[in-house]
Amino acid sequence: MRRLFPDPADQVDLRTAYGVQTSRHVRANFVASADGSVSLQGKSGTLGNAADRELFQLLRAMSDVVLVGAGTARVENYGGAHEFDGRTPPIAVVSRSLDLDPQARLFTDTRVPPIILTCDSAPADRRRALDGLADVIVAGADDVDMRAALDALADRGLRHVECEGGPHLLGWLLAAGLLDELCLTLAPVIAGGTAGRIVAGLDTQVADRLRLLHVLEDDGYLFLRYSTAAAG
Ligand SMILES: NC(=O)c1ccc[n+]([C@@H]2O[C@H](COP(=O)([O-])OP(=O)(O)OC[C@H]3O[C@@H](n4cnc5c(N)ncnc54)[C@H](OP(=O)(O)O)[C@@H]3O)[C@@H](O)[C@H]2O)c1
Repeated sequence: MRRLFPDPADQVDLRTAYGVQTSRHVRANFVASADGSVSLQGKSGTLGNAADRELFQLLRAMSDVVLVGAGTARVENYGGAHEFDGRTPPIAVVSRSLDLDPQARLFTDTRVPPIILTCDSAPADRRRALDGLADVIVAGADDVDMRAALDALADRGLRHVECEGGPHLLGWLLAAGLLDELCLTLAPVIAGGTAGRIVAGLDTQVADRLRLLHVLEDDGYLFLRYSTAAAG
């Protein structure tokens, strides 16, 4: 991977390029096509290249916990937590419905049980079905209160959060002002179709402007790193 901005370089140390200095941090990592689509044939993995997959794994390994919405976990048949680079951050799934199959890979193919972030209104029978399979955290009444959910993760020592989507979860994080960083892979692909954008469920503009931290490139794929903090 080479860096195009700010200081052009032929080789980049990705750990340094994506390092985080603060004690708590929420980073979202998404891939989109050149025409703004968030998926190809319903899945996001088909949009990325090998470098994108490598970065995806590295950002996981640099985090304490991987945060994902239940919609993505269902559609992508999310696997559980596995060791990478000597670390095994647990997967935390956000869900109100708890429509999660206890036989899914999330629960059966994992080194550590997943964390389920849910709310009071979740069906009691589905909650019981997860007993012993997951660490269930209730945060919020009708919706999952993302601030309370992230505080509960921090209480468990999980302070560096890697959000892998999807668009509705990112909308919730943005609405609550909880996102610190957005990493966006822009694929040199026209996807067409009717798939949505990387943010869904937000009716108001929440961030006037992102601050561009770097642009990396590999095989026509652009790797954009943005901060949500205003320029100093
Ligand atoms: N391009 C990319 O980088 C990327 C990344 C991820 C996903 N995707 C794509 O995005 C699509 C899925 O989109 P999506 O927006 O449905 O996914 P999502 O954001 O992962 O899931 C939405 C679901 O998450 C739960 N949820 C999230 N925040 C909540 C809150 N604050 N309170 C209560 N529930 C909350 C709800 O689950 P329940 O329904 O269980 O209550 C909600 O229906 C898939 O096609 C996937 O491939 C693309």
